[in-house]
Amino acid sequence: MSDIKKIKDEYLEKLNQDIDLNNINQIKTELFGKNGKISNEFKKMGSIPSDERKKFASDLNTIKEEFQNIISNKIQNIEIKEINLKLQNEKVDVTLPERSFNQGKIHPVSQVIDEISSIFSEIGFSVEDGPDVENEHNNFTALNTPDNHPARDMHDTFYLDKNKKYLLRTHTSPVQVRTMLNGKPPFKIIAPGRTYRSDSDQTHSPMFHQVEGLHIDKNITMAHLKGCLNYFIKEYFEVKKLKMRFRPSHFPFTEPSAEVDIGYEIREGKIIIGEGDKWLEILGCGMVHPNVLKNVKVDPNNYQGYAFGIGIDRLAMLKYGIKDLRAFFETDYRWLNHFGFDPLDVPSSYRGLSR
Ligand code: PHE
Repeated sequence: MSDIKKIKDEYLEKLNQDIDLNNINQIKTELFGKNGKISNEFKKMGSIPSDERKKFASDLNTIKEEFQNIISNKIQNIEIKEINLKLQNEKVDVTLPERSFNQGKIHPVSQVIDEISSIFSEIGFSVEDGPDVENEHNNFTALNTPDNHPARDMHDTFYLDKNKKYLLRTHTSPVQVRTMLNGKPPFKIIAPGRTYRSDSDQTHSPMFHQVEGLHIDKNITMAHLKGCLNYFIKEYFEVKKLKMRFRPSHFPFTEPSAEVDIGYEIREGKIIIGEGDKWLEILGCGMVHPNVLKNVKVDPNNYQGYAFGIGIDRLAMLKYGIKDLRAFFETDYRWLNHFGFDPLDVPSSYRGLSR
C-alpha cells in the first residue's frame, strides 16, 4: 500500500469519529502543518521518477482536496450545532408575563441635600466632602477639643480601635479642617454628609446628616453669618418673613458661639415656619476659634470667619411633615414611595426648590 493510501485510510477513520473542534485542529496540523503528513508527501515530489510523478501529483492533490473538504464541512457542522444549542437554551418564551417595573424615588434626605447645595452654591459656596471614618485629630484635636475635653463625651463617639485613634465622625466639622489644610484662604464651602453618634430615639438616629458651612476671608464678621443664615433659612422654607434669634452657646471650635432658633406656630395641625411665638432650634454656629485657624496653618491675625452646622434630617422633617426620624433609615419602599421625590425633579431656586 502506498504511503498516500495509508494516510488516507488512517485519517478518514479519525475524521469519521465523533470529534470536537480541538481534535479537528489537531488533525489539520498533523496533515497540513509544517511537518504534516501531506506536506511531507509534497516534499517527496522531486525524488519521484518522472514517469510516475504525474500520477503521484494528481493523487496527492485529490487527497489533499478531499481532506480539506471533509475538514471544513466538519468545522461548519460543529459551528451550526453550537449555534442551534445556543438558540435552544436562550430562546425567549413570549408567553411569560412581563417583569414588574418599580420606578425609584429620591430619598427626602438626598432631596434636601440637593436643595441646600443649590441655595448655597448660588451665593458662592462650593460643596466639599470628607470621609465618614475620620481620625481623632480632625474630628476633635484640630477643632480645639483636646483630650479629656467634656465635649468628647457629649458626642457619644463610635470609636473604631482600642487606642481611640479612628472613629466615625461625630459632626461634619472635620471637613473644615481638611479643606483649610488642603488649600489657601479665602474659603467658602459647605459640606453635607453622614455623621454618627451613639444615640437613638424618635428624634435621634445613630447615623444622621449634617451640613457644615465655613466662610473665611479677611473681614468676615458675625453680621455676615447672620445675613447668610437668614437668607438660607428663608430660601429653604420658601418663606418671605422669618423670625430668627441667636442664643449664646458654646462650641470649643467657635468663639463666640450661638445656637439659632426660628419662630414657628402650629396652625390647623400644620407647622408654619417663620411666624408665631414658639421657638425651634435648628443649628449651631459661631466665629471660627483662632486656635482652629492656627491648627490648620491659617494666620488668625489676617483671616477670620464663621462656621455653622445644621442638622439636615431635622430640616427635612420640618419641611415635608415627617414625624419619626427613624423611618428615614428603615428602607421601607412604601415609606419612600410616599415621601420620596421624582428623580427628574432637580431642585433649583429658579424652578422652585420643592413641589
Ligand atoms: N459641629 C457642631 C455640632 O455638631 C455644630 C457646629 C458647627 C457649631 C460649626 C459651630 C460651628 O454640634
